Amino acid sequence: MIGAGNVGATAGQKIAERNIADEVVFVDVVEGLPQGRALDMMESAPVEGFNTKVRGTNDFSEISGSDVIVVTAGLARKPGMTRSDLLDKNASIMSGVSEHIRKEAPNSIVIVVTNPMDIMTYLTFRKTGFDRKKVIGMAGVLDTSRFRTFVAEALGMYPSQVTGFVLGGHGPSMVPVISNTSVGGVPLTQLMSREKIEQIVQRTRMGGDEIVNFLKTGSAFYAPASSIYEMVKSIALDERKVLPCSAFLDGEYGIRDIYTGVPVVLGSGGIERVLELQISQEESTALKGSADAVRKDVELLKEHKHL
Ligand code: LAC
Repeated sequence: MIGAGNVGATAGQKIAERNIADEVVFVDVVEGLPQGRALDMMESAPVEGFNTKVRGTNDFSEISGSDVIVVTAGLARKPGMTRSDLLDKNASIMSGVSEHIRKEAPNSIVIVVTNPMDIMTYLTFRKTGFDRKKVIGMAGVLDTSRFRTFVAEALGMYPSQVTGFVLGGHGPSMVPVISNTSVGGVPLTQLMSREKIEQIVQRTRMGGDEIVNFLKTGSAFYAPASSIYEMVKSIALDERKVLPCSAFLDGEYGIRDIYTGVPVVLGSGGIERVLELQISQEESTALKGSADAVRKDVELLKEHKHL
C-alpha cells in the first residue's frame, strides 16, 4: 500500500482482517506514519483473528516482491477543489512512485487510486511501461457502489440487490448505465420514474463532493477502501469478477489511448478482458464525452511536462 493515509490504511486493514494476503506493507514518505499504523493494526490481530503480517516503512525498496501494489499517495481534495486541481502536485508524486514500481516491483499489478484518478493511472501506465493489463484505476466500483446505495435507499431495498455499472471518467461526467441497472433482476426503469433516476445520477456524479463538503478537511475513505478491497481480492484470489475499473482502451467503445471506466474481468493476471456492453446511443455518446474530459487533463499533463 503506497500511501498510509485514510484510504490506504482502511483498505489495508480490510485486506489484513479478511486474510487475503500473506503480508500488507504500508509505505509512506511521512516518518512514523506507516510504522505507527501498521503496528497498531498488527496489535489488533489476536482479537480479530487474522494471520496477515502488517508492516510499515519509509523505504520504497520494500515494495519489491509485491504481487499487488495499491497507490493512494498524494493530496486529497478540500471543499471547493475539483479532482483536476490536484493534477500537478499529484503528477509529480506519481512520477516518483512509478519509478520505484518500475525498478523494484516489475512483476506487480498496480491499482491507482490517487486523484485525478484516470489521469494518474495513465501517467503510471506510461511511466512504468507495464502491460495495460497490469495498471488499473479504482473508481468505477466506488461510483457504482454509491449509485447502488442511492437506488436502494430510494426503493427501500437492500443495496446488494441493486446491480449495474457506472462507467466513464471519475468526475462529473461519469456515466451510470441505466439500461443495465436492475434490482433483483427487474430493470430499474420499471421501478422508478425518469426524474427520480436523473436525481440519483446527479447525486452519484457529485458523490465524492458530498462527502468532502461534510468532512471539510479530507475526502471519502470507507467506500473507497471497500472498493479497493474488492479489486485486490478479485486479483489475489483469481475470482475473475466483472468490475467497473479504469482501463487503457485501445478501440473498445470507439475510444483509444485513454484510461476510462469500463467493465473488466479482474483476475490474477490483472485485466483479463475488457467487456463491451451493449449500451444505448445516448450512453455511448456520454461515455465518449467523459473520455474526452479525461483526455483534456492528459493533454495538460503533457503541456506541463509530466509526460
Ligand atoms: C471520491 C474521491 C476520493 O470520489 O475521488 O470520494
